[in-house]
Amino acid sequence: MKNSIMTFREKKEKGEKIAMLTCYDYSTARLMDAAGIDGVLIGDSLGNTMLGYPDTLSVTMEDMIRYSTGVARGCENALVVMDMPFMSYQLSMEQGLMNAGRLMKEARGQAVKLEGGARVCPQIRAMTDAGIPVMAHLGLTPQSVNAFGGHRVQGKTDDAAKQLMEDAHKIEDAGAFAVVLECVPAPLAARVSRQLKIPTIGIGAGNGCDGQILVYQDMLGMFNDFTPKFVKHFSNIGEEMSRAFRDYISEVRSGAFPDEDHSFKMKNEEILSRLY
Ligand code: KIV
Repeated sequence: MKNSIMTFREKKEKGEKIAMLTCYDYSTARLMDAAGIDGVLIGDSLGNTMLGYPDTLSVTMEDMIRYSTGVARGCENALVVMDMPFMSYQLSMEQGLMNAGRLMKEARGQAVKLEGGARVCPQIRAMTDAGIPVMAHLGLTPQSVNAFGGHRVQGKTDDAAKQLMEDAHKIEDAGAFAVVLECVPAPLAARVSRQLKIPTIGIGAGNGCDGQILVYQDMLGMFNDFTPKFVKHFSNIGEEMSRAFRDYISEVRSGAFPDEDHSFKMKNEEILSRLY
């Protein structure tokens, strides 16, 4: 059965952990969905992993729609959440609502995600009022990497922890159905998770969150530009891919590929004699 935001809420109520991964294409979505993933996020991290930018700032609405469309088609069961790119919702409530609507209509996921606390509550409220479920994102919000001065753990001081807790309550009151906590000290994330009714999805936020998310190329060992401390390699697909690429190149160069098994036969080769 297709997961919905209610599935996420019920899982939190029952104390069942929520497993999410980022996803950016149809084939990978099919594999994750068949494996039983609860939800996938078409993250604007595709700016790094798919487009090779140093950060997420250059990702456009068109990028998000294009990638999200393939993922949404590949998921029969998983909840599909689509990131709102930098500057697609910060200008005004109207701008945010219009772009969230575009993602829902054109890419056909089931929810959107945006970064920020109190400042984006009007957008969260307007979207949820319009029937668009919103996942919020607090802690290290990569669209603000320049304001943070780098990818740093957030909420470490008294003031920052208090601010994060307040923001968490505000986005819940504004109607968010879940919140990503990124690079937040584990004890703070656990406290936020206990206080909120909506599920928290952690990335670099410890085991006390209601669910976890990782960038899939990170957890498969496919993306080595940088590896944050919180990333665990569940496989080393990157090495396996490199080996296969090397073998292919060498077989093409030596003429070993394609062999007869991978070529088509002709019933009547005499035809060839009648060709120029
Ligand atoms: O863009 C992204 O992939 C994200 C996750 C890391 C939560 O926001």
